[in-house]
Amino acid sequence: MEIGPSISIEIAAARGVGGRDPAGHGASTCEGTAEAGPSRGLLAFEEVAQLMAQKTVKKAPISSPLADQDREITGKVLQGTLLDLIDLHLVAKQAHWNVVGRLFHDVHLHLDELVTTARGFADDVAERAAAIGVSPDGRAATVADGSGVPKFDSDWRSDREVVAAIVAALAELIRRLRARIDETDKTDLVTQDLLIGIAAELEKSHWMWQAQLAE
Ligand SMILES: [Fe+2]
Repeated sequence: MEIGPSISIEIAAARGVGGRDPAGHGASTCEGTAEAGPSRGLLAFEEVAQLMAQKTVKKAPISSPLADQDREITGKVLQGTLLDLIDLHLVAKQAHWNVVGRLFHDVHLHLDELVTTARGFADDVAERAAAIGVSPDGRAATVADGSGVPKFDSDWRSDREVVAAIVAALAELIRRLRARIDETDKTDLVTQDLLIGIAAELEKSHWMWQAQLAE
């Protein structure tokens, strides 16, 4: 096929631009390419550098009432507790949907009480972390990596099996929480007070769930 004059002009223009293109993409990038030469690439790089510099300046937007080391230890304690509580809420919801058996109604409703408790405490813990200048991380992948809640299998689960699983989950979270209460004894009494309040409620819940297993 013979190339007409107007097409020849477009190809020539595109090749001219392509000659300045360090990636050598040439004629395939006709429209707008004249604006996207090396100088535009350099500008984009400078913009990224500026954004990174701004991020560095904003690295600690929330000041902490704690000394650096106390903040670091307390922040880890709060982050670990946050992951446990988010996962407890997820496991309780999973059980709420999948429980079957003669005690279905009681267990189904009791699980939603636990969901509400765990969600409320997760929020308290995350906001305490923010208040001491630590960014809380409650993303699903982080929870999957760091939660201490025992594995809860998928599919339908009998009422007694669910109650036993919740008792085990609460026992493990209480054990972890009590260790964290000790850890915060010298770093932040306000956080320790929050954790003690959560432990008291979870231990009460642990008793109530155990009571359902009694013969
Ligand atoms: Fe429900």
